[in-house]
Amino acid sequence: MTPNPTLLRELPADLERERLPKHVAVIMDGNGRWAKKRGLPRIMGHRRGVDVLKDILRCCKDWGVQALTAYAFSTENWGRPVEEVDFLMTLFERVLRQELQEMMEENVRIHFVGNLHALPKSLQLEIERSMEETRHNQGIQFTVATNYGGRQEILQACRSIAHKVQQGLIQPDEIDERLFERHLYTAGISDPDLMIRTSGEMRISNFLLWQVAYAELYVTDTLWPDFDRAEFHRALCAYQQRERRFGKV
Ligand code: IPE
Ligand code: IPE
Ligand code: MG
Repeated sequence: MTPNPTLLRELPADLERERLPKHVAVIMDGNGRWAKKRGLPRIMGHRRGVDVLKDILRCCKDWGVQALTAYAFSTENWGRPVEEVDFLMTLFERVLRQELQEMMEENVRIHFVGNLHALPKSLQLEIERSMEETRHNQGIQFTVATNYGGRQEILQACRSIAHKVQQGLIQPDEIDERLFERHLYTAGISDPDLMIRTSGEMRISNFLLWQVAYAELYVTDTLWPDFDRAEFHRALCAYQQRERRFGKV
């Protein structure tokens, strides 16, 4: 069964439009287990996971969530069998090529974060092309974390700031949160308000370590390929019940 985008097209009545998260981040986990449960190879879970991501992106647009960030491949995922890694890289490239036209029609601005230089050259070219072509789109900001690691991101920011200090461009005392954030891959993108993880794992797995400081966390046992608008609705309802205090009383 493929996700049915015609269901829940409108913002559900029990959600308050003004209190929606502006930015939702998702750790799309459980593709392999989903496939295994069906006696299928793991890659079938990844393939299905792409369809789910497409529908959740469209759902964000339909319901008025302004930014979506998806964790597609971590710096640790290189440790998987080479066939799976190769499949994923090819899948990313193919999906990007196939979806660019539709992203333009839907006014999506796509952005990639991570150590992109280590990706296959042909994928890098698709990534550059999609970012370039969609950069003036004014609709949803869609960020894909590919070869992304939160620790690596923080380290590269430190290195880049250290170089500037060495060159005398920055004084050590000028290093504050705002300056630091400008050196992260996510410069210019607001911190996520809500972080969703599927498949029941209660961990961050090196995702957006800096940016997640005050995000509301939501974990569902549902595996990513089974995640749908009804599940997203539940996550948003849970979010709207939270009281965000940011350390205050
Ligand atoms: C998430 O699903 C997708 C990626 C990490 C690329 P997994 O592939 O981690 O699926 P499980 O966790 O093994 O079920
Ligand atoms: C996190 O899932 C990475 C992505 C969803 C891309 P993993 O499956 O790699 O995380 P762990 O190994 O369960 O922590
Ligand atoms: Mg996993």
